Amino acid sequence: MKTALILGASRGLGLGMAKEFQARGWQVIGTERSPSDLRTLDVTVETLDITSQEQLAALRKRLDGQTIDLLFVNAAVASADAPAASVETQDFVDVMVTNVLSPMRAVETLDDLVPPTGTIAVMSSRQGSIAMNTNAGYEVYRASKSALNQLMRCYAVRRENDPRTLLLVNPGHVQTELGGPGAVRTVEEAVPPVVDTVEKRAGQGGFFFVDYNDQVVPW
Ligand SMILES: NC(=O)c1ccc[n+]([C@@H]2O[C@H](COP(=O)([O-])OP(=O)(O)OC[C@H]3O[C@@H](n4cnc5c(N)ncnc54)[C@H](OP(=O)(O)O)[C@@H]3O)[C@@H](O)[C@H]2O)c1
Repeated sequence: MKTALILGASRGLGLGMAKEFQARGWQVIGTERSPSDLRTLDVTVETLDITSQEQLAALRKRLDGQTIDLLFVNAAVASADAPAASVETQDFVDVMVTNVLSPMRAVETLDDLVPPTGTIAVMSSRQGSIAMNTNAGYEVYRASKSALNQLMRCYAVRRENDPRTLLLVNPGHVQTELGGPGAVRTVEEAVPPVVDTVEKRAGQGGFFFVDYNDQVVPW
């Protein structure tokens, strides 16, 4: 049985992925910051605020000796829908720490649990694509996903001969708190193709920015 560790699995896409991987026969470890619907699933629940280095280190210690076939860093927050220069400095910092620095710290803290055949995936967004930015909006969030992509690329370049599969995933626009009620697809519709893509890419190696239909997204 393969094991997936999903960071940020309390609701939205993270909860949906925990449910889907579990239904497909994976053993799932999901994290939440506080008691959530994750507890209604037949999964192992861990507590993690991804911005806490102490909590990341403690989680790593608790997982000692485990093999994590899939590490999926999903947690993120939205920003105001405003030009970057108009955002409060602390709001800018909070989005960047949560969406960029913390996922990279999580990857670097937990990656030794992932075997050579394993996958490290981080949830990105189409909004992180600089090439596809033709409409602005949610500027700090966009910049956070672009920065995340860049740092995952640095991570991949530093590990040129790493056989593991490294993925940045664009799930598409989905009805969650972050995606808003106007999004085209529900979590139930959005999650299976994301999981299909991850399962299809597993064991193949390489580093890719892909969307839920396994199409490569331009940087
Ligand atoms: N929905 C979309 O349209 C869309 C599109 C492209 C990309 N994405 C990406 O998909 C991922 C999931 O988003 P979503 O739409 O499912 O959003 P969501 O429903 O708002 O869920 C966000 C998740 O991140 C967790 N989280 C936030 N800050 C955290 C922290 N400091 N420590 C630990 N967990 C934290 C939340 O936990 P709490 O319950 O504790 O707050 C929650 O589980 C994100 O990376 C997002 O950028 C979403």
